[in-house]
Amino acid sequence: MATVIPIRVTERAQALASEVLNIGDLAIDATAGKGRDTAFLAKSVGATGWVHSFDIQPEAINSTRNLLEASGLIDRVTLHERSHAELTEALPESHRGKISVALFNLGYLPGSDQKIITQPESTAIALQSALAELKSGGRLICVAYTGHPGGKEESDVVDKFAESAEKAGNTVEKVGYAPYQPKPWILVVSRR
Ligand SMILES: C[S@@+](CC[C@H](N)C(=O)[O-])C[C@H]1O[C@@H](n2cnc3c(N)ncnc32)[C@H](O)[C@@H]1O
Repeated sequence: MATVIPIRVTERAQALASEVLNIGDLAIDATAGKGRDTAFLAKSVGATGWVHSFDIQPEAINSTRNLLEASGLIDRVTLHERSHAELTEALPESHRGKISVALFNLGYLPGSDQKIITQPESTAIALQSALAELKSGGRLICVAYTGHPGGKEESDVVDKFAESAEKAGNTVEKVGYAPYQPKPWILVVSRR
């Protein structure tokens, strides 16, 4: 019998981002957390690219800064200690509408206060804002979790956003979507 090696949902999300990321690109990490996705994006865009990374928790911003400094990537990242719902105001004018990848990894920071968690209302605003800042062919990638309290409601918000993005003419793909199971899934929206 063949051995099935499970791929972590976060690795899958990064692989989906890799498919469209090039050296010199601009990217957003909407949920910095421990900084792993930010470091991945910063590596992918190279020294001529730029990453904007958001988190509301000082602890997350500090972890991300430490990881970027240790990896020699800090010089190509702006760390925004503010909500991703304020993404439009936070981006410099010269980067607006030119983003190749906006990556969301919803939920809470593992190993910290589980009450500080992404919220459906701000997530809905941030998803719309991020889509508006993508260049044509750019990708919004969102990992949604349904297993924790509030997760199902937030996953429904992500699904509703997917519907509106598709209606607006963008290409929408749902990876591992199973609404009635406590299982993470990935939304991929490619901007038209
Ligand atoms: C699952 S973690 C992200 C993991 C991260 N991408 C990594 O590579 O380690 C979710 C993060 O979202 C952050 N968060 C919660 N609400 C937020 C908001 N409104 N804006 C930005 N970040 C938020 C939390 O503080 C937490 O650090």
